[in-house]
Amino acid sequence: MSQQFNITILPGDGIGPEVTAQAERVMKVLESKLDLKLKTSELPVGGAAYEATGKPLPDDTLNSAKEADAVLLGAVGGPKWESIDFSLRPERALLGLRSSLGLYANLRPAKVFDALVDASTLKRDVVDGLDLLVVRELTGGIYFGQPRGVETDADGRRRGFNTLVYTEDEIRRIAVIAFDVARKRNKKVCSIDKANVLECTGFWREVVIETHKDYADVELEHMYVDNCAMQLVRNPKQFDVILTTNMFGDILSDEASMLTGSIGMLPSASLGGKNGMYEPIHGSAPDIAGKDWANPLATILSVGMMFKYSLGIEKANTLVENAVEAVLKLGYRTRDIMSEGQTEVGTQAMGDAVVKELESAEC
Ligand code: IPM
Ligand code: MG
Repeated sequence: MSQQFNITILPGDGIGPEVTAQAERVMKVLESKLDLKLKTSELPVGGAAYEATGKPLPDDTLNSAKEADAVLLGAVGGPKWESIDFSLRPERALLGLRSSLGLYANLRPAKVFDALVDASTLKRDVVDGLDLLVVRELTGGIYFGQPRGVETDADGRRRGFNTLVYTEDEIRRIAVIAFDVARKRNKKVCSIDKANVLECTGFWREVVIETHKDYADVELEHMYVDNCAMQLVRNPKQFDVILTTNMFGDILSDEASMLTGSIGMLPSASLGGKNGMYEPIHGSAPDIAGKDWANPLATILSVGMMFKYSLGIEKANTLVENAVEAVLKLGYRTRDIMSEGQTEVGTQAMGDAVVKELESAEC
């Protein structure tokens, strides 16, 4: 009997629906190719859900995500919802999903496909063959710390504040993930902090060093976040696994994405709970929504990660990566990665090309 899985699809806002539609086609090909049964449910999230129900993360959406074997998310947010209360913003849905599902570990691989070496804004020899992984803590730190808010004192002066806080357990469990994945890679972890200024991240460093005692076979290095931002453009190939906090990881992974040619290329997996959530690292790009311009490859590659990490079918990830590599070699490019002499295609046509490659792939 074929294996069965429940997948919740949350297209979201902006280009979210366009890129998830292509990723869903890829899922269907894998389903028939690998003789699986995928039951998909599609639900609103973010601004789309706010419009439909008044809440960015309705109960039905959260419950479906909780019950699924895996969740695929497009993107949330847009200018339309920028002035509404923080608690109702589309982004709250994403943070709510991450924390309710216990997804504390965010893996963001930045891998340069051979065919895209020249799409990066950096020189070929700086990025050629680059393969690094950002392990970002996802349910703690300044994103979730209390107290937070904006308040006005008796004299009418306003003050805005957030709290950077990490418990020992939160640091240890994400460090364990980083060391474990490093063991399957080049056995090098660089932990990023701002230990020279922020006590909380000095403590982060201390706990990472303690956790490392069980991983003598993995090399551990520490770097301040400002230096890391610089090293990523100077010599990114020095990194294997970058372990870092929620906010530093948000920033550094956007930076790392440009090494690969475009933010439209970076997939992600959020793990730690009973299931996983998969999403491109890019946002909803409202300026290009509905134009068939968006690059669907980050979302398609996220499907590969879903099969590998949540469904336990690693072969599917290899098939997806190979199909993406093949369409890039054939010269297909969305506008974000377009260069001279290549063939410009839209979101759907890029999906067509990947589907075609996958259908003819041997497995
Ligand atoms: C990301 C995004 C989110 C984050 C936003 C949309 C809440 O930038 O996944 O990187 O900051 O985590
Ligand atoms: Mg981000």
